[in-house]
Amino acid sequence: MSFPKDFLWGGATAANQLEGAYNVDGRGLANVDVIPHGEDRQAIITGKMKHTAFDDKHFYPAKKAIDHYHRYKEDIALFAEMGFKTYRFSIGWTRIFPKGDERTPNEAGLKFYDDLINECIKYDIEPLVTITHFDIPMHLVDEYGGWRNRKMLEFYERLVTVLFNRYKGKVKYWLTFNEINVLFRDPFIGAGIVFDDGENEEQVKFNAAHHELMASAIATKIAHEVDPENKVGCMFAAGAGQFYPASPHPEDVRAAQVMKQKDYFLIDVQSFGEYPNYVLKYLEREGISIPFEEGDKKILNENTVDFISFSYYGSFVAERADEGGDIKVVDNPYLESNDWGTPIDPLGFRITINDLYDRYQKPLFVSENGIGAYDNLDENGYVEDDYRIEYHAKHIAAMKDAIELDGADVFGYTTWGPIDLVSASSGEMSKRYGFIYVDRDDEGNGTLERSKKKSFNWYKKVIETNGEDLTNESFR
Ligand code: BG6
Repeated sequence: MSFPKDFLWGGATAANQLEGAYNVDGRGLANVDVIPHGEDRQAIITGKMKHTAFDDKHFYPAKKAIDHYHRYKEDIALFAEMGFKTYRFSIGWTRIFPKGDERTPNEAGLKFYDDLINECIKYDIEPLVTITHFDIPMHLVDEYGGWRNRKMLEFYERLVTVLFNRYKGKVKYWLTFNEINVLFRDPFIGAGIVFDDGENEEQVKFNAAHHELMASAIATKIAHEVDPENKVGCMFAAGAGQFYPASPHPEDVRAAQVMKQKDYFLIDVQSFGEYPNYVLKYLEREGISIPFEEGDKKILNENTVDFISFSYYGSFVAERADEGGDIKVVDNPYLESNDWGTPIDPLGFRITINDLYDRYQKPLFVSENGIGAYDNLDENGYVEDDYRIEYHAKHIAAMKDAIELDGADVFGYTTWGPIDLVSASSGEMSKRYGFIYVDRDDEGNGTLERSKKKSFNWYKKVIETNGEDLTNESFR
């Protein structure tokens, strides 16, 4: 058997992309709520455009999403039918602390997650919790400027202390920040940052990164104190850091190395407990400082993560810097892409698993993998998503090679969006990842009814056979 017998097969979601019910049971407003679908989305996500409230001009998909808040029992029953061993979901911070800086949590919000977790346990599904998945209370964005401000450590500590105590004995696996390296590309969703005119954006991002790294280490410390059984992981957008050189020319190879280091340094800190020299030297040259305070180095050093979780969608290619000094990201002529331009590269998945295991020598957990695609319903309302089956089959086979032939220690795999949900980058519903179809369009029309796609029974078979049978038979 190539996969360990207790391998954690399952799926992954994020609160803001599926729960909806944005103002129900005392929930406060979060940054992710006010990001609209459509033209301004990209500028807002990247912190270039200030947009911190609802208006009539835009459509806000997170408000209702797929209404998992009211349908979680139906959804988890479907996950159980596929045989999920684990379900990765995130906690909506503003359900627990609606503004973020209160001292007492919102009991109704906690009750929702009590019920959700109990529902998983009922089916023997191991809950795996992301503490923050791109969400920050809007009050903390408006009042404190998000993670640029060290005060955030205090609020995050309050959040995690409540969660670790409340779910002691029920939740064992925790991820501190979803795709922590994404804050450098998308600072509003990664860190609640809206830039002021003329400020040193790079410095602001490094300040926020240091605060999140500190928060992650403090959370790890508390998790272990509350329950030594707790396992805390980082969450790395590893595909975003998987760069191939455009050619064997050493300058292209060097360009790929530099691009990789930009993403890897955060995981180096979380895993090794200190900033690597390559980033310290870079910051020195750029005149950027890390806002260290007394005791920070010790906290980072003593509270490294127990495992490395990561997402992987595809790989990228770097070409040597142009005259302006910027490294170019170019297309890979050997790979096809999905409709949104993400290259499809199963062998890159095996390479990434090897890179991570060689570097960190810690257990790995694949916390996201999947393909965004347009799905068409046939006359019976059925989706024959062979392209999705093919994508997952090839990636699971590559993961199997990494385990069986290369000896990497991988203990679980959760597909992204086992049920269709709102896209983080585009806000679309039509960029679908699920094995379960949800009747909703990009403008919010639809019954929200759930139905099984062809891939549903395929994934069920994969789990049943512990990854041995990846064939695409007819499952109709
Ligand atoms: C990851 C995120 O980057 O990729 C998810 O953790 C996101 O939140 C997923 O949904 C897929 O990306 P997208 O933009 O297609 O939704």
